[in-house]
Amino acid sequence: MEHDSRPNVLIVDDELGPRESLGMILKPSFNIFTSEDGREALQVIKNKNIDVVTLDLKMPVMPGEEVLKQIKDYDPTIEVVIITGYGTLKSAVEAIKYNVFDYILKPFNVSDILSTVKRCLERREMSFRVKAFLTEIEKESKSPLKMYKHISHFLNKLDEFYHPAKSEGYLEFVKVLTSTLETNDTYTKGHSERVNYYATLIAEGLGLSQVDTRDLQTSAYLHDIGKVGISVNNGSLDENELTEMRKHPLKGVKMVSPLKLPHEVIGGIKYHHERMDGEGYPEGLKGDQIPLFARIIAIADCYDAITVGRPNKAAMSKNEALLELKRNADSQFDKELLDIFAKALRKK
Ligand SMILES: [Fe+2]
Repeated sequence: MEHDSRPNVLIVDDELGPRESLGMILKPSFNIFTSEDGREALQVIKNKNIDVVTLDLKMPVMPGEEVLKQIKDYDPTIEVVIITGYGTLKSAVEAIKYNVFDYILKPFNVSDILSTVKRCLERREMSFRVKAFLTEIEKESKSPLKMYKHISHFLNKLDEFYHPAKSEGYLEFVKVLTSTLETNDTYTKGHSERVNYYATLIAEGLGLSQVDTRDLQTSAYLHDIGKVGISVNNGSLDENELTEMRKHPLKGVKMVSPLKLPHEVIGGIKYHHERMDGEGYPEGLKGDQIPLFARIIAIADCYDAITVGRPNKAAMSKNEALLELKRNADSQFDKELLDIFAKALRKK
């Protein structure tokens, strides 16, 4: 049989109609597989090298959400596009949890589908290139300082890896970058993804525009990038390590400077450890002096830290964590934002 080098796309839908029409649209550009239910789909994914899955949410046998979770557990680099009828979506924010690439509403439009699947594949390819590059530099980065220098250098030469369309910005890229950096560290694994999720909940509650939300997400993903090259994480820190650790917001800002990100994004990275009472770092800003993104990320960051736990600290439940944050409202956190966050979380 002739080898087909085109990307493999799996269409999962319990109804024949959508399966066939999606197949017709995608067939000229991709190698198509189809499944009628989730169990069969997972089988195909394990046997074929699937690049992209289009997934119907409403299916018997196994609900789409469950299929999605299992696909991402099996291989997080497989891109998933959700195909859904209008109004079946609880909240777009939920998709962030599983890193869904995009949604397509039924009845679908040919050019939407083609362009979405193509963008999907671009992200997948970028993700492989970034990963290969980071693995390479990790091998030769014997010291954390070297790692820091390599990443900084990498960000400087980013245009060799990634050409973001102006309107798209860097969100896709920073997702891949931070998740790759976190892969080898069980302690921070998924941290920026979750901080992004919690920050987005607050953005929704505030009614931020799409552009502002995207900038906030970029900032949330990058907030701890300055920790690259600081080797700690083993429980408590001594004086020197603490001083070193507290440099990470400024180091992060320096690292991402070649990206020329909007100043709101930079503000989120630089000031996410400031406190409302002025006792934070790096500048000891107070109250409204602290940029909005930084106040949002501070809440999301802290909530994640205490619900995930630390080597020397047990994880707290959702309610315990919210109480803990409330105790520190006004001294550490913006009370209004905290209320919005608590409300959004309780709805989940
Ligand atoms: Fe931080």
